[in-house]
Amino acid sequence: MKQYILALDQGTTSSRAILFDPNANIVQVAQKEFTQIYPQPGWVEHSPDEIFDSQAHVMHECMRRAKVCGNELAAIGITNQRETTIVWEKATGAPIYNAIVWQDRRTASFCDQLRADGKAKIIQDKTGLVLDAYFSGSKIRWILDNVPGARARAEAGELLFGTVDTWLVWNFSKRGVHVTDPSNASRTLLFNIHTGQWDDELLAILDVPREMLPEVAPSSSVMAQTHPEFFGRSVPIAGIAGDQQAATYGNGCMKEGMAKNTYGTGCFLLLNTGTTPPVSQNNMLATVAWQTARGYSYALEGSVFVAGAVVQWLRDGLGIIKDSSELEGLAATVPDNGGVYMVPAFVGMGAPYWDQYARGTIVGLTRGTTKGHIARAAIEAIALQTLDIIDAMQKDTGIKLTTLRVDGGASRNNMLMQFQADLTGVVVERPTITETTALGAAYLAGLAVGFWESEEVIARKWKLDRRFTPTMPADRKEKMLYHWHRAIERAAHWIE
Ligand code: G3P
Repeated sequence: MKQYILALDQGTTSSRAILFDPNANIVQVAQKEFTQIYPQPGWVEHSPDEIFDSQAHVMHECMRRAKVCGNELAAIGITNQRETTIVWEKATGAPIYNAIVWQDRRTASFCDQLRADGKAKIIQDKTGLVLDAYFSGSKIRWILDNVPGARARAEAGELLFGTVDTWLVWNFSKRGVHVTDPSNASRTLLFNIHTGQWDDELLAILDVPREMLPEVAPSSSVMAQTHPEFFGRSVPIAGIAGDQQAATYGNGCMKEGMAKNTYGTGCFLLLNTGTTPPVSQNNMLATVAWQTARGYSYALEGSVFVAGAVVQWLRDGLGIIKDSSELEGLAATVPDNGGVYMVPAFVGMGAPYWDQYARGTIVGLTRGTTKGHIARAAIEAIALQTLDIIDAMQKDTGIKLTTLRVDGGASRNNMLMQFQADLTGVVVERPTITETTALGAAYLAGLAVGFWESEEVIARKWKLDRRFTPTMPADRKEKMLYHWHRAIERAAHWIE
C-alpha cells in the first residue's frame, strides 16, 4: 500500500493541510482562512476552537480529495504560527480566553517594566530572545492576571498552557498528550536554550506556574497518536516545529551557514548556526532550529512582523487590489517608486529595531503619486526590511551571505525576488516547492518513522526553480537605503 505523510500547517491567517508522497511531491492541499479578532488597536486574537476546527476540517478535506485513508498515512507532522498563546482547562479542554496572537502588543508596557527592572540581559542570555511582547511569556501572564481566578487555578494545576502545536496535539489526541518541541518552546521566554529545559528563574520573572507547561519532546519523534475518531485508527504525530524553523528544514538549510527567508504574514530570515546557540550583538534572535536524533540545531533569526500582510492590507484595507496576484502588475505600471517609501510597522517593528511603539507610515507622497507607486513601495518595503536583517546578521557572524533561499507565498512575486537580490547583493534561490513550511514538518515526521531514511536523503530532494542575481547599480541602492532609513525614523516610537 502506498504511504504518505500529512503535514498540518496552522498559520496566522489560515489552516492548511498538505499531503506528501515519498518523493516529497505535493499530492493534495486544502486550506481555510479563519477569523482575525482585533478587540482594540494593537490587540490580535484568534478563537482556539476555530483554530482547531479549521485545522481538522482541512485535514479531512485534503484526505478526501486525495482519496487517501488513515491506513495510508505513515505519520503526521505539525507546524504552526509560533508564540501565539492559549490557556485552557485541563479537565474539559475549554479555553479560558482567546488565543493571544504573536502580533499582539498588549503586554508592551509590562515588557518595558521588566527591562527597567534589569531583566533583559538574563532573559537574553538564557533564551536567546530580545525582551518583547512578541513572545508567549508575557501573554501567559496577562491571561493569568486578567481572567478571574485564573492564577489560582493555574497554581492548582487546573490550567494548561500551549502554543498552537500543543493545542492541536492535545485535541487530536483527545486530551491525552500535552507536549511541545524545543523550536516552539524556545519562543516562550521560559525555555533555556542552553539546558533544553523550562527555567525556574525565567518562570519566576514572568510569574508563570510550572504546572501549566507542556513536556518538551524532540521535533522529530513520535510524541502522540491521533485519537481513532479522526482516521478510524491511530496515526503517529511524529514531527513538530514552529513554522519558521520547519521552513528552514523544508528549504534544505540543514547545514551550518545556510539561510532562508520566508515571505509569509511576516518575513522570517533564519541562518543555521549549527550545534551551538549563537549570541547576537545586533538584535537578532538566537533560537532552537529543531531537535532530531542527532541533537539540537540552532539558528540566528531576524523576524519582520509585516511582509505579506501588507499585501493583504492593500487588498482589504485600502482596496487598491482585488487579489494579491494583482500587486506585481500594479507595481509594474510605474518605472520606480517615485520617491514613495512605506514602512509597514502596523504592529510595531521587530528585528533589528524592536520598537513596540512604531506604527506604519507612507512618506514622499506628491500629486503625482499613483496606486502603482504605493504598490511598488509595498513590495520594496518587504525587501528593504529583509536587507536590514541581513546587514545585522553579517555583523553578528562576520560571514558574508552569498546565497539566500526563499519560500512562502510572496516568494512567487518575481519583482520582489529580483529587488531582494538587487538590494542585498546576494543570489536569491527559489525552490520548486515553496510550501517549505509544510514540507519541513513532513520531513521531520517522516524522518522519525523511517519514511525517509536520513537527513542527507531529504537534503538531496531540494530542487531549484529560479535564481535571481543582483543587477542594481550601487549608487541607486545607496540612495534607496538613505531614504528608507529616513522613513524608518518617522515610523519609530509613534504612539509613545
Ligand atoms: O513568529 C510568527 C510566525 O511563526 C508566523 O508565521 O507564517 O503565520 O506568518 P506565519
